[in-house]
Amino acid sequence: MLNFHKEHKNLVLTAGVVFIALSIMIAILPAFQMQETEPIPGQKPLSANERKGLRVYVAENCMACHTQQVRNIEMDNVWGSRPSIPSDYFFSKKRLDVWRQSPSLLGSERTGPDLTNIGKRQPSEDWHLLHLYNPRAVVPESVMPSYVWLFREVDSTLVGKDDKTIAVPKEYFNKPGMKIVATEDALLLVEYIKSLQQMELPGGKVNDFIPALKKIQEEGMGGAIDSGGLNGENLFKQTCAACHQDNGKGVAGAFPPLAGSEIVNNEDPDLLIKIILQGYDARPDYGVMPPLGDQLTDAEIAAITTHERSSWGNDAPAVKEEDVRKIREFIKSELNQ
Ligand code: HEC
Ligand code: HEC
Repeated sequence: MLNFHKEHKNLVLTAGVVFIALSIMIAILPAFQMQETEPIPGQKPLSANERKGLRVYVAENCMACHTQQVRNIEMDNVWGSRPSIPSDYFFSKKRLDVWRQSPSLLGSERTGPDLTNIGKRQPSEDWHLLHLYNPRAVVPESVMPSYVWLFREVDSTLVGKDDKTIAVPKEYFNKPGMKIVATEDALLLVEYIKSLQQMELPGGKVNDFIPALKKIQEEGMGGAIDSGGLNGENLFKQTCAACHQDNGKGVAGAFPPLAGSEIVNNEDPDLLIKIILQGYDARPDYGVMPPLGDQLTDAEIAAITTHERSSWGNDAPAVKEEDVRKIREFIKSELNQ
């Protein structure tokens, strides 16, 4: 047999053969397989701005704390409706430029949440901008750094018509006569973050991937369905609390409180339901609330509003699915006129 102690040639040769075989298996074959990847039907390439936003994402090294991969294990179910597949990265794997290889967006460290589906989970530009300016303003216990250098302090009188100002709570920015304006980089970065949306696979091949998914579909996302019907509190936590906070107190200067709100406590829930369906942008000292009508069913909105109207000291009658349906139809008929 090979005597590695005396025949050093054999040692080098064997090591060489093993090295080449492993290189082929681990690097070259997968690279060829990647070449054959195709986009998912209907998948859109990154727009020019989203691609620029990706460069900001890479430059700021957001991958240090955020992944973009849903693994085929149960604990990853919350990050998407299926595990990630090579096609998901079809349009983002293009080289950034001639010097830089495609970024390893997959990430290996999850200090913060996975961002595979963040564009669907949090579609609000205002939320993302305030969060980047100071994460503590929206998530008090956050350990994410503040990206203040993506923003400028501008004298109120010098704010241009096209400048995007953000409403920052006094606690985090208190210079009378000054406003916080997002830089172009911040806007591009947010455009990129909002583009991160997991594509549905055609033909609902989802269940083949995650056996546990069936269970979630039956039980309702994150326990949103309990035995007595929809759970308004859990639905509120999933859909509204990012801005209005779990305790309904909101974030002063950015998102209004729902505790004690006249709109929430009004005997007549019409305006409250309309705000959820259509979004709300009534006051300059707050951000903009996005419309949520497409994400929530009538029954879910009834459960959420009933929760809001009976929590944090609020006291108003429950809302029925029927009430929401009427308003939704009214809005539709108004749009058709
Ligand atoms: C030191 C680690 C760290 C870095 C670096 C970091 N983040 Fe975060 N991020 C977090 C943590 C922790 C959270 C969860 C708490 C929160 O929402 O602020 C988070 C939350 C988020 C969220 C909200 C996710 C959700 O599901 O609600 C977004 C979006 C986000 N980060 C984007 C970014 C971007 C963009 C960058 C780069 C500019 C970045 N993060 C850099 C730690 C980090
Ligand atoms: C992305 C952040 C965001 C999310 C998510 C959000 N809101 Fe809002 N909401 C706002 C902002 C900003 C305003 C204030 C808009 C203004 O006055 O210009 C607001 C206003 C309101 C108001 C009016 C309160 C008052 O007294 O003026 C109600 C009620 C409300 N939201 C309910 C909800 C409910 C219920 C949900 C979940 C289904 C929800 N919001 C989700 C940002 C958000």
